[in-house]
Amino acid sequence: MKIFIDSADIDQIQEAFSWGIVDGITTNPSLIKKSYEKVQASGEKISMHDYICRILENAEDTPVSLEVIGPSEKDMTAQGRFLYETFNRIAGNVVVKIPVNPNLQLGGDHRYDGLKSIRSLAQSGIPVNCTLIFTPEQAWAAAKAGAAYVSPFAGRIDDMLRKRLGGEFSKTDYYPAEGKRDDDGNLVADDNGVYSGVHLVEQCVDIFQAYDLDCEVLAASLRNPRQVRECALVAADVSTIPFAVIRDMVEHPKTVEGMNAFCADVVPEYRDLLP
Ligand code: E4P
Repeated sequence: MKIFIDSADIDQIQEAFSWGIVDGITTNPSLIKKSYEKVQASGEKISMHDYICRILENAEDTPVSLEVIGPSEKDMTAQGRFLYETFNRIAGNVVVKIPVNPNLQLGGDHRYDGLKSIRSLAQSGIPVNCTLIFTPEQAWAAAKAGAAYVSPFAGRIDDMLRKRLGGEFSKTDYYPAEGKRDDDGNLVADDNGVYSGVHLVEQCVDIFQAYDLDCEVLAASLRNPRQVRECALVAADVSTIPFAVIRDMVEHPKTVEGMNAFCADVVPEYRDLLP
């Protein structure tokens, strides 16, 4: 499974790439807002154009998803072409992110505009990451329309199921991949047959494998290392992971305990041998 960093923060991107485990970057308007405002607050004056160039240049030739904001086919396709034509010349690594359904209210008029836009961009050879996927059917449709990646939002499905169950929770809390169940093993929450974020990813993977769809399942909205592990176990092609979660993936108290014990046992002769 490839690992993308889900961030627009240059410091985080540079640091994570230095670990040698990152295969790409995903951004969205919320991540751009957070990181761009951080740079502005530091006193640095940089245009949005130059900031995006900086992200692309720091991606070490790996794919970078940049999202459109228009709520109609016309806007999304024009913005997708603009993003690709303006920025792909910087490092040849732009992927345009298109929402599967850009409606701003349920049942609105733009239900199919995401698919139309994906089709139009893909036919021009522009790689598309279809975002805001919450059902396997959406993923399937996006793949058929020509998306190179589909992004099922695992964490937000878990949030929705937890909200239905009531009670307090933190977004980073682990939610069981097998779904919340009662003592008899019966599911207590699902969303039309999807019982966890990881289950959503798994269903997308199963359909894509069954029908040999030429599109990668990019697990998104991941909140903790165990969720990442479970995405790998269900054979997601990619997981896009926030910086803090990638960092937490290599933490374990027994590793720290082991390091302390090894360091305490070093004899002077061994110490002197090493540079
Ligand atoms: C990435 O492509 C998505 O935009 C992102 O993973 C969403 O994550 P969130 O649900 O934690 O905001």
